[in-house]
Amino acid sequence: MTAATVHVGLPGRAYDIIIGRDVLAEAGTRIAAMGGRKHVAIITDANVAALHLEALQHTLAQAGLTSEALTLPAGEKTKGWPCLEQSVEWLLSQKVERGDVVVAFGGGVIGDLAGFAAAILRRGVRFVQVPTSLLAQVDSSVGGKTGINSVQGKNLIGAFHQPSLVLADTALLDTLSDRDFLSGYGEVVKYGLLGDAAFFDWLEVEGPKIAKGDAAARVRAVERSCQMKADIVMRDEKEAGDRALLNLGHTFCHALEAATGYDADRLVHGEGVAIGCALAFEVSARSGLCSQEDPSRVRAHLRDMGMKVDLADIPGDLPDADALIDLMGQDKKVTDGTINFIMARAIGDAFVTADIDLDVVRRVLRDALDVKG
Ligand code: GLY
Repeated sequence: MTAATVHVGLPGRAYDIIIGRDVLAEAGTRIAAMGGRKHVAIITDANVAALHLEALQHTLAQAGLTSEALTLPAGEKTKGWPCLEQSVEWLLSQKVERGDVVVAFGGGVIGDLAGFAAAILRRGVRFVQVPTSLLAQVDSSVGGKTGINSVQGKNLIGAFHQPSLVLADTALLDTLSDRDFLSGYGEVVKYGLLGDAAFFDWLEVEGPKIAKGDAAARVRAVERSCQMKADIVMRDEKEAGDRALLNLGHTFCHALEAATGYDADRLVHGEGVAIGCALAFEVSARSGLCSQEDPSRVRAHLRDMGMKVDLADIPGDLPDADALIDLMGQDKKVTDGTINFIMARAIGDAFVTADIDLDVVRRVLRDALDVKG
């Protein structure tokens, strides 16, 4: 099967996203072609290293590149100051120079952390994203947001630093658990909902095939998602406007993640995004912005895919609607105390607005919490 290429045409920082089954095998030749020393530093996590590091190092060796890997613990805790310090000091010990290439080999945590380490090392070295989770392939590896979490909140410390290449090998998705795969699928659905009704129509039909592992459908889903993200990032790299559309469902999601104490047993990010998208459409419908059928269609598709859709699907207690709205107010997308909502006029037509009646949001959350009981 041929690989798909999405080009991110940012002036002076342009790069390709190569998407396909087994494109990992091309990592050696593609990275060798980038120049720099013939030594590559890889940052990865223990889960990915156990499954795929040998394959990555093999392709690098075949292209005449030596490599060394720093293997960090898997999980969100890795995305903090201690592992950032460890990564930067390790890269320096590997004698990584300005012209060299660092490889981020993992999911969103590793991509964000290694990308940030590359951004600050010697005031910026090039890095290649080799995302291994669906969420990283369709969202976090593209667009140059890098960073770590603070005790005060997620992603509060970071930099925009575009990768020089993204290699999204969809064969790597075969080793994900169903839950991790579906969590990433929440971000795929988000693209259809925010800007491409025809893509959402296609997902309604092909979604089950994508979940079962259909190779062509998976490449198509990742390619369309990356193309949409690339188009938005080219219009608004630093999130002064349109890039905020990528946060559809995220204000609700961030409140739910905080309310569940970032406990992955209760809720993972992509699940929160899916529930958040359903809530955003419900608020849009009750605010008279979109038709009543739209939230029903969103919910039906998520339900068909076996995903979490409702607050009732989150195990354990949740705080009341007012407390959830307070948590939404702590989101970093708040400006001057006003929550910026991503709402929808229809499936495929999202927009940013601060003009939402919080009473409608409160009623939607109360109804959802009542169902939870
Ligand atoms: N994940 C949202 C963004 O990259 O802007």
